[in-house]
Amino acid sequence: MNALTPFQQLVRSRRSIRRYLPKPVEREKIIACLEAARLAPSAENAQTWRFLVIDDPELKASFSKKAFSGIYYTCRFAAEAPVLILILAKLDFLAHRLGKQVQKVPFFMIDIGIAGEHIVLQAEELGLGTCWIGWFSVRRARKFFKIPRKYKIMSLLAMGYYEKKPKREQERKPLDEIAWFNKFGEKGINVKK
Ligand SMILES: Cc1cc2nc3c(=O)[nH]c(=O)nc-3n(C[C@H](O)[C@H](O)[C@H](O)COP(=O)(O)O)c2cc1C
Repeated sequence: MNALTPFQQLVRSRRSIRRYLPKPVEREKIIACLEAARLAPSAENAQTWRFLVIDDPELKASFSKKAFSGIYYTCRFAAEAPVLILILAKLDFLAHRLGKQVQKVPFFMIDIGIAGEHIVLQAEELGLGTCWIGWFSVRRARKFFKIPRKYKIMSLLAMGYYEKKPKREQERKPLDEIAWFNKFGEKGINVKK
């Protein structure tokens, strides 16, 4: 293969980061990440995403105590991340019901995933580590921030500087298992390395 493009390098170097340095993240960098999310595509341009950035250390500590206690203790590492971003979806008729009822696909979930990953990739480019966190108490997060029901709490993103990335890559399925040209079948795309 030819030399990797900057984007190819970026996606290859990203890892989920679970150990963070206690160094604050500059607001400009956080805003650059949010701006990347804002520009993401969405079904019918619905832009259901909403982002609650938690970067106040004391607030983050009390939130984390609630969000990562009990069965969610395994994600306690996220409390050490200097920034947590709570990702919400504002569910109006178009975003929520139309896609689900007509197409049977909850488009807003796709939209949220794209926007969240824009944050992740922008963070990576800015030298920040991230980790998607799905395992936390949504109920307690809602109560903590008094988030109305019409906002669905979708995920958390931990973000911050890190000392080193995990060396070991999490394994990925090969292309021939997950992709096909023109015909759906058993043997997928064969890439000669
Ligand atoms: C929607 C979503 C939810 C996730 N939730 C968690 C989580 O609760 N705790 C955690 O440690 N990692 C979580 N992860 C990170 C995955 O475990 C990780 O992306 C996967 O193992 C691949 O590793 P990599 O990101 O380092 O390539 C989540 C990832 C996604 C996309």
